[in-house]
Amino acid sequence: MLKGKHIILGISGGIAAFKSVYLLRLLVKAGAEVQVVITPNGKEFITPVTLSSLSGRPVISEFFTANTGEWHSHVDLGLWADAMIVAPATASTIAKMANGVADNMLITTYLSAKEQVFVAPAMDLDMYRHQSTVRNLNTLHADGVEIIEATSGELASHLIGKGRMAEPEEIVRRMEAWFENEACKPLKGERILITAGPTYENIDPVRFIGNYSSGKMGFALAEEAARRGAEVELVCGPVNLTTTATNIHRTDVRSAAEMLSACEKCWNDCTAAIFCAAVSDYTPETCADTKIKREKLGEMTLKLVKNPDIAATISKNKKDRLCVGFALETDNGMENATDKIIRKNLDWIVLNSLQDKEAGFAKDTNKVTLISKDGRHIPFPAKSKKDVAADILDTVFNKDGRCSQTQ
Ligand code: PMT
Repeated sequence: MLKGKHIILGISGGIAAFKSVYLLRLLVKAGAEVQVVITPNGKEFITPVTLSSLSGRPVISEFFTANTGEWHSHVDLGLWADAMIVAPATASTIAKMANGVADNMLITTYLSAKEQVFVAPAMDLDMYRHQSTVRNLNTLHADGVEIIEATSGELASHLIGKGRMAEPEEIVRRMEAWFENEACKPLKGERILITAGPTYENIDPVRFIGNYSSGKMGFALAEEAARRGAEVELVCGPVNLTTTATNIHRTDVRSAAEMLSACEKCWNDCTAAIFCAAVSDYTPETCADTKIKREKLGEMTLKLVKNPDIAATISKNKKDRLCVGFALETDNGMENATDKIIRKNLDWIVLNSLQDKEAGFAKDTNKVTLISKDGRHIPFPAKSKKDVAADILDTVFNKDGRCSQTQ
């Protein structure tokens, strides 16, 4: 899996730096092109001559080459690399990475890295279990960095405990496993627009028209699509949900008009769209600037005007891209859903009915039938929204991740 891959090997200043020489050898042996970036302290432990001999490339350590003034572009390195591994990663380097303290070439390179970063910590046991190191490693993990945990054994201090850098073979195995997993992610290369949750239409500063959508179904789709390697543009109305995947790009909106505008902004770059939001069909013609007082007004009639149809508007500029809608029905489900496929220019529609007790707003389960524009009906039993999301993606995308209508 590493053959032909461009790998940045970042080395910081710890005794485990001697193991980085073996790691470099293994990476080169596996067919990778390796660029070593070493911190000034790292050079106290291992010489650039050894590293450049093994990698076949000059080792980079400073921002400039002193005698020529040549600038080493961390930006170019970030673009060149397919992955970066920092091994050993000392407590100080981990802290700088977690907090963006760009005071050496290794950290600026990390901040410019576009692809996966791995970190193999190495330090004394007290430092490894210190809450600040734990916190910084958690931050890196949340930022999408893969942590290759230190192992237990005798440390440089001669104390026994956890803090030894993982063996080079284990680091290479983890990197290979990551590339293998990436290669078989079926939605890699897709950028999917997903709408989720309700929209709120303001009546006055304290009141709105909304609905019971929790966002659970749309978020389950976003998480599942991201897990399968897609970049997800998640446009969501007011919900109390969080996302963890770094390939989910979230835009929070309130009204249907805001949701449409956010969708229009990203649709050009997307390869597919799934409209799961429960968009309010109507909005008040005007929104009062101050709280409406019933003492003053007595009876009131609210004039509502039609909201834009987001799915229909976006899919007008569909070209050969996949567009999937949802239909939430209370009666005549099949008929209404089939009508929506045509009116909204969709490839598929996911019918869920409030007649099914397992389906609908805020539930953890859903029961859906997928209907295609060419008339196929695929019913599924009631399942968790996570599993429903998997069924939807399995059905509307073919096996190798291309949009189903381009087969
Ligand atoms: O969020 P949860 O609590 O998990 O609940 C999930 C859900 C019930 C909201 C979800 O499964 C669902 O059915 N979403 C669509 C709800 C809906 O508004 O259905 P509809 O039949 O009114 O709309 C048809 C389609 O047009 C939908 O894809 C909808 O997003 C879209 N639409 C509707 C109106 C509008 N103005 N713009 C739109 O884009």
